[in-house]
Amino acid sequence: MKILVVGGAGYIGSHFVLAASKKGNEITVFDDLSSGFKSNLNDNISFYKGSTLSKKELDSVMLSDNFDVAVHLAAFKAAGESMLNPGKYATNNIIGGLNLIESCVKNNIKNIIFSSSAAVYGTPRYTPIDEDHPLLPINYYGYSKLTIEQNLKWFSKLKGIRYASLRYFNAAGYDSNCKKFQVESDPQNLIPLVMEVALEKRDHLEVFGDDYATPDGTGIRDYIHVTDLAEGHLASIDYIINNNENLEINLGTGEGFSVLDIIKKTQIISNKKINYVVSDRRSGDPDIVLSSSKKAKQLIGWSPTRSDLDNIIKSTWATYNYNMKANKL
Ligand code: WQD
Repeated sequence: MKILVVGGAGYIGSHFVLAASKKGNEITVFDDLSSGFKSNLNDNISFYKGSTLSKKELDSVMLSDNFDVAVHLAAFKAAGESMLNPGKYATNNIIGGLNLIESCVKNNIKNIIFSSSAAVYGTPRYTPIDEDHPLLPINYYGYSKLTIEQNLKWFSKLKGIRYASLRYFNAAGYDSNCKKFQVESDPQNLIPLVMEVALEKRDHLEVFGDDYATPDGTGIRDYIHVTDLAEGHLASIDYIINNNENLEINLGTGEGFSVLDIIKKTQIISNKKINYVVSDRRSGDPDIVLSSSKKAKQLIGWSPTRSDLDNIIKSTWATYNYNMKANKL
């Protein structure tokens, strides 16, 4: 299959590109390199530098081949930042996403895979969260993802596109066999920050509250390995093409780990002390966020196989060490 991967040089994008090309798909990557790295891609991958904010650049890449599907992985993802700078997320995530949908329709790319997020659910009313859970985002990032999901629904009705909105829980880990991935600079998420503390690139970690309704008082999240995510995208492509049906599913494990679990596991695997201080809660953080992935299992036969905490931390630690030794950190 010919796959256009928008945002394919990023953390999730480059892992999807690796998994998709291993399966013999023809990949073209379109990326503005604002946070991704071209070095994350093998030389055999066609690459176009461009922005989803340029309709001209989108049209040009979409006319470069007869793509069977466009995979949209180009968005900002820091929930906290989105509350301080909603305009940045409105422009990149919403306008960029709408440009992509319009360009797909105009250039006859009938299938779209969209990287959505558990953030569309907002504060869990119940857990594990299934796809019937109310869609009430509590941060602008989650709202930006829901806005694109809803537009995909409209464009499917009005213009006949097929889409899959894949609601990721906490993407984590790295490909165990490919250390060359460049880690993100200025990370906001827990696991990359813990790695930076372990490598003494950061003095300490702030634990945002230890008074949550959890066994050790710290927040519990559902960490899904990025390669399991990539496999979920590939299975979703087959589903929407073979069934000519849309898909809105969670991609998570259903198992949760607390902040202290992550710290303890990293200390064991890295043999490093992780300094941390407990600070105030971060606004908008729920106690527990866990996914029900029954629908993904039933519809696309997908289950995570790489998302045990050992593999997530070991693969991340190995990649961070590679980056450190290569002076890329
Ligand atoms: C995880 C846990 C924090 C940093 C966000 C997005 C979500 C998804 C994943 C894309 C929480 C705690 C964190 C720190 C801490 N993104 N923490 N100190 O907030 O669960 O989800 O990223 O789809 O949509 O909302 O991820 O890694 O920021 O936090 O104590 O310095 O770690 O309180 O319990 P989060 P996170």
